[in-house]
Amino acid sequence: LFTSKTEAFSSKMEKLVMLPGPTNVPQSVMLSMAKPIINHRSTAFSHLYKRVVGMAKQVFGTEEDVIIFSSSGTGGVEAAVINLIRKGDTVVVPVFGEFSSRVADTVETYGGIAVRVESPYGCHPTLEQIEEALEKVKTPKALILVYNETSTGVTFRSMEKLAALVHKTGAYFVVDAVSILGGDDLPVDRWGVDMCITGSQKCLAAPPGLSLVSVSHQVKDFLRRSPPAADYFDIPKHLKYMERWETPYTPSLPLFYALDEALRIVLEEGLRNRIRRHSVCATAFYSAFSSIDIEPFPGPQFRSNTVIAVNYPSGVDDKIFRTTLDEKFGILVSGGFGNMRGRVFRIGCMGEISAYHVLRTVDAVVSTLGLMGVQVEPKKALSAANEQLSSL
Ligand SMILES: Cc1ncc(COP(=O)(O)O)c(C=O)c1O
Repeated sequence: LFTSKTEAFSSKMEKLVMLPGPTNVPQSVMLSMAKPIINHRSTAFSHLYKRVVGMAKQVFGTEEDVIIFSSSGTGGVEAAVINLIRKGDTVVVPVFGEFSSRVADTVETYGGIAVRVESPYGCHPTLEQIEEALEKVKTPKALILVYNETSTGVTFRSMEKLAALVHKTGAYFVVDAVSILGGDDLPVDRWGVDMCITGSQKCLAAPPGLSLVSVSHQVKDFLRRSPPAADYFDIPKHLKYMERWETPYTPSLPLFYALDEALRIVLEEGLRNRIRRHSVCATAFYSAFSSIDIEPFPGPQFRSNTVIAVNYPSGVDDKIFRTTLDEKFGILVSGGFGNMRGRVFRIGCMGEISAYHVLRTVDAVVSTLGLMGVQVEPKKALSAANEQLSSL
């Protein structure tokens, strides 16, 4: 399928980053990182930090504090665990993919007891299963949910009901929203989320390297009573410094500039419009593939609007497929990982996603499958996508 000519061409081609993070970053966000380095203990930084947090709070739908760590999303998840969980605490974790499985492992790393409520990949545990687990555990300290399982393309859709179940037990409701916040509904205060974590490189369309964590006043009260054994991720210390709009440690200044511009773009579009755009583009992807019998991995009621996971037709080799997509068509998508390796490919439907991204990706995916010997009808797939995209 490849020749040295296509490889040489490919290295010059502008790529569409259709990964489930990092994703395409608008040019103005990239350029904002070229601003001069400033003193992070200066009024200029305080203004920047205050502005970025103010915008982040609007995107999170919270009046509570949002802390920004110079770390990737994993750092934000680890920060939530270190600050909230003490040795011997029981934490209920619905496990339905690699990221939720990782969360349970992190709880155990810090001395917590993780009660895993499992379901097969491609769906998620039911509310009944989770309720039963919460009832069995006498005093759960927290429930940590991965709202959007990036490894399987599954979104948990009963968030408000789950929050009510969790709060009935007195536990904290913690949500890993790394691959969804800004691309789907998540009004943190209205849904009663005590800690919500996201990363800069997904639906916010900034480069990788920052994590954002909201902290409810209930969690803040707990931290006053029981200070965490933490250094870099010490939330009370971050909150103390935030009183004068500083960070305890040196922040990644270029990434703060980038997030400033990325959040400005999110709010300029409006969260409602942005969420709708993600939903329309996701529906277009699903209809395009289903129309030619290339089946999405999750069942219809579980499908994510930000990560499109698709089963490989039999006989399609993951490495050849993704290398061809990249080198011939300039499209980057992900394979499966962990248990899912070789079974699915995953497309990020995040951030800047538009009719242009969807149609170029569908066209390239279908053409690549055709080149690999799969019987496909490109026109049918494109017209199914177009039908959905007409509502944008
Ligand atoms: C749901 C979820 N949680 C956590 C992470 C980890 O984020 P990072 O790779 O930025 O550390 C990811 C990354 O894809 C994710 O999708």
